[in-house]
Amino acid sequence: MHSLQCVLQVQRSLRWGPMASVSWLSLRMCMAHSSLSSTTCPNPERQEDGARKDFSSRLATGPTLQYFLRSASAPQEKLSSEVEDPPPYLMMDELLGRQRKVYLETYGCQMNVNDTEIAWSILQKSGYLRTSNLQEADVILLVTCSIREKAEQTIWNRLHQLKALKTRRLRSRVPLRIGILGCMAERLKEEILNREKMVDVLAGPDAYRDLPRLLAVAESGQQAANVLLSLDETYADVMPVQTSPSATSAFVSIMRGCDNMCTYCIVPFTRGRERSRPVASILEEVRKLSEQGLKEVTLLGQNVNSFRDSSEVQFNSAVSTNLSRGFTANCKTKQGGLRFAHLLDQVSRVDPEMRIRFTSPHPKDFPDEVLQLIHERDNICKQIHLPAQSGSSRVLEAMRRGYSREAYVALVHHIRESIPGVSLSSDFIAGFCGETEEDHVQTVSLLREVQYNMGFLFAYSMRQKTRAYHRLKDDVPEEVKLRRLEELITVFREEATKANQTAVGCTQLVLVEGLSKRSAADLCGRNDGNLKVIFPDAEMEDVSNPGLRVRAQPGDYVLVQITSAGSQTLKGHVLCRTTLKDSSAYC
Ligand code: 5AD
Ligand code: SF4
Repeated sequence: MHSLQCVLQVQRSLRWGPMASVSWLSLRMCMAHSSLSSTTCPNPERQEDGARKDFSSRLATGPTLQYFLRSASAPQEKLSSEVEDPPPYLMMDELLGRQRKVYLETYGCQMNVNDTEIAWSILQKSGYLRTSNLQEADVILLVTCSIREKAEQTIWNRLHQLKALKTRRLRSRVPLRIGILGCMAERLKEEILNREKMVDVLAGPDAYRDLPRLLAVAESGQQAANVLLSLDETYADVMPVQTSPSATSAFVSIMRGCDNMCTYCIVPFTRGRERSRPVASILEEVRKLSEQGLKEVTLLGQNVNSFRDSSEVQFNSAVSTNLSRGFTANCKTKQGGLRFAHLLDQVSRVDPEMRIRFTSPHPKDFPDEVLQLIHERDNICKQIHLPAQSGSSRVLEAMRRGYSREAYVALVHHIRESIPGVSLSSDFIAGFCGETEEDHVQTVSLLREVQYNMGFLFAYSMRQKTRAYHRLKDDVPEEVKLRRLEELITVFREEATKANQTAVGCTQLVLVEGLSKRSAADLCGRNDGNLKVIFPDAEMEDVSNPGLRVRAQPGDYVLVQITSAGSQTLKGHVLCRTTLKDSSAYC
């Protein structure tokens, strides 16, 4: 039986909406966990007994409520070089990983991929090892997603498989510990611990620094959770560990959270308030990646173009914020700070041979200075993700997106005039609350009108806590949602094929990623618009070394003549190896 040892309601820095009352930090005593051992003890049972008694007595004389309140209100960011003091109920060496092997599994968006690297960076510093073999793991951590019901169902199913693994675990080995990290931990909190007794650790998106402590508590048979949201955590000083050392590109997190509160979206509740990472620390990370030879960086955040670094006081004078024309913001507009155009400018100057992308932006934050910069700078990709969500002004209003169909279309025209040849992509939701057939037809017509190069299309999934959950009715039947989604996918594919076919006959700059998955005779890379380009692996000239014949390697820029195009891929043949600077004049 689980007996609750200590649950504290700690309202830390979050003073916003319903989350303020549910931020909590808990340590739970789990008497049911029956085997604990360490690598040095041949009798795990006896050691667990001892460890549990020892731990319980330390807990009894351990932290007071004041201790947690003190630490909850202390500033969160620490320098990576600072040594953490252990909490009073843990010995210093219990915070160390002692070569335990961690298996990390990532679900959901790119933000979660980046969070996985942050979590791993923190654990690595604590002495954990990483394994890609589930069977040899001592700790399994799932970095989870809550954006749609289906994403959560996948995790519940996975937990059932892991339960079997945990039960089958040999008693001679260290007990397997399982942790849920990220959005699902934040959204469901205690429910996960109650529903799945074999989950040992819960860590919300702002609690990864606490992982060594949470795992130390779990070591002694307790469940441990930290789902506090923060106003200022950006993990600015945590250098994510690149999982694939041969990678050509990396994601750099520039901000976290979202203040937009679109009525369908759980993100503001799971990832908290919008906060930006200081420009200086972003530039430092980009410089390091450039020194490692990476050729592409994608600036990452829930709302990248709302970026606002207010950490440098001299830039905090009240400069008014320019929104895209015809757009409004759901939240109070903030003033001052270093904005996205400044960041993009600085990042693109680090290495002229490094491509810069960003995702995901909100259409409301595309002032002319951002568009101008994308147009002017050779190494900023001419590719913009412009999530529309719906083509019906009525639905857009119900979603509280802050724009009408007309304002969105005007922005698309303005972007196309400002950045000739720009590639556009979008997100759409089919079957949102109250969506009629006429609204759906409007979305189909927007897809035809804009002719996106890429699209991400979803059926609406009602999420608790959102405004839509409280105020609107999820009244579009499931089969209608799916039928509308199918229609959107068909139309998107037709239009994307047409849009991509305009590239046939052109020469495009491609950053080589490696062998094509379909054939070892072909290579695969991405064009400026982020479309996949496949071409035969052949010898070619190197423009920097005339006369030299070379074969393309991952990380090389090559010019490819496009010969055919589908909705998701281009095909062509390679002309020469080049540099980003030398290739700026091509069609
Ligand atoms: N149901 C379906 N799709 C959603 N998205 C966000 N919330 C939901 C939801 N409740 C989609 C939006 C967003 C993308 C990341 O996920 O299109 O842009
Ligand atoms: Fe969700 Fe809207 Fe924020 Fe995107 S902008 S994360 S859809 S609330």
